[in-house]
Amino acid sequence: MRVAMLTGGGDCPGLNAVMRAVVRKGEVVYGDELVGLRDGWRGAIENQVMDLSVASFRGTLPRGGTILGSSRTNPYKVDGGPDRVKATLADNGIDALVAIGGEDTLGVAARLADEGVAVVGVPKTIDNDLSATELTFGFDTAVQVCVDAIDRLHTTAESHDRVMVVEVMGRHAGHIALWAAIAGGATMVLVPERPFDIDDVCRVIQHRHEGGRWASIVVVAEGAQPAEGTMATASAEVDAFGHVRLGGIGDQLASAIEERTGYETRAIVLGHIQRGGTPTAFDRVLATRFGIAAIDAVHDGDFDTMVALRAGDIVRVPLAAGTAELKLIDPKLYDVASVFFG
Ligand code: F6P
Repeated sequence: MRVAMLTGGGDCPGLNAVMRAVVRKGEVVYGDELVGLRDGWRGAIENQVMDLSVASFRGTLPRGGTILGSSRTNPYKVDGGPDRVKATLADNGIDALVAIGGEDTLGVAARLADEGVAVVGVPKTIDNDLSATELTFGFDTAVQVCVDAIDRLHTTAESHDRVMVVEVMGRHAGHIALWAAIAGGATMVLVPERPFDIDDVCRVIQHRHEGGRWASIVVVAEGAQPAEGTMATASAEVDAFGHVRLGGIGDQLASAIEERTGYETRAIVLGHIQRGGTPTAFDRVLATRFGIAAIDAVHDGDFDTMVALRAGDIVRVPLAAGTAELKLIDPKLYDVASVFFG
């Protein structure tokens, strides 16, 4: 078979490990020819195709990012986009496509599958907010980056008796923030699922500082929002999938905390550092298992599916189900974190 792959959306540690596994099993076990579409759906629209082989992936297992490149291009927002994708597949003799991405990339894959494209999805996002899979690769790496940063921030915060507001990624869901807060011993965590009241946040910090020199670490997900009418926030630009380009809540929160409590407060935005660099061993293993499962699904002719982690096993779920619902934080895990507030 001739099998194509693409990586779409924000990059994520482990993407190369997925593709390396697809290529390894495809070429060596199934005798496939593998190609890559450059820069996500953009390459599929613009016929940007490159040959791939086992040799193309030498040395990439520990490498973050994606050797194919990625973009947030949405074919359904481009004139004739879906037909151009189908033409690229036909012109290059491609029998099947493995699409590796988050809700947006896989949402497009599901629509193309409805239109007859033979596609298998692999879930990817550091945010870990896809409901059909218990975990996505990249999440473990992102959390570890946050925890390393928080460990460092503790010592400088304590030396100056400061409040440190650490903004982490998490557009719709606060998984990274919650795990990083628990593992990093944060004073408080603010997540998109629970709009916060700035006065409550300040009360917790004040209570902690009144006991003596007790620096605070507040972890805030970039998508966290104040409860309506409690604190003003700035608006931002929107991308091709209609998502607001986030970032900024950390600074706004730090100013509000300093103004209300009088404690010296600093904001640290971890941003894309969370997405770059080498994947953890856990993410390399999960990504490899997803890649093997995806090429197996292709050879079983089980298209319009997505591979997923459930109860420790890799299973196949319908593509549409994979992206239908967002996975929000587990309230029980939030309760664990809240025991340590203040
Ligand atoms: O979807 C993954 C993610 O890392 C989000 O956490 C974040 O909001 C977004 O991507 C950032 O996207 P970009 O790299 O396009 O600014």
